[in-house]
Amino acid sequence: MTLPTDLGRRDLFMKIGIFLNGIVGVILVVPIVRYLLSPVAHERKGSYDSWVSLGNLGQFPSGQTRLATYRNPTVSPTDGDTANIACWVRNVDGQNFQVFAINCAHLGCPVRWFPQSSLFMCPCHGGVYYQDGARASGPPERGLFEYQYKVANGNLLIKSGEMPTPGQASNIVREIRPCA
Ligand code: FES
Repeated sequence: MTLPTDLGRRDLFMKIGIFLNGIVGVILVVPIVRYLLSPVAHERKGSYDSWVSLGNLGQFPSGQTRLATYRNPTVSPTDGDTANIACWVRNVDGQNFQVFAINCAHLGCPVRWFPQSSLFMCPCHGGVYYQDGARASGPPERGLFEYQYKVANGNLLIKSGEMPTPGQASNIVREIRPCA
């Protein structure tokens, strides 16, 4: 006579088990789907295409190369100071500029500008670049990555949403310069 009760209890546990497995399945699937859809979501936000000001042109004297920073437009509230990104600004002749990513084209270490020798040098493996960003020597296979820039209302702006990498840097000037 206890058989129907056992079956009923077994049914109940089976349904609870299926329900809990369903919840766990949803919890696991949601981040995977969000990851897969993230490129589309980012494009919709348009922040990759945004222009960011590096400051007034007066901060970048003609013939000099200066360090500048900008706030990554794709920042999230938890990013803090890591969203402040440095770059090198070269005022070529008062009219034309070059804005270089600070990261070495080899493995990404921050390069430093040495005005005495007019060279960018990488502290990690000895990569060296000329003042126009072209590769001079060392392990990097190409010159420094360059941002697109424009001047508007006396400010220097760069297209900065996407970090410069060899892979998918659609907003970075892609010219590969020959080794010197
Ligand atoms: S990271 Fe700059 S030379 Fe290797």
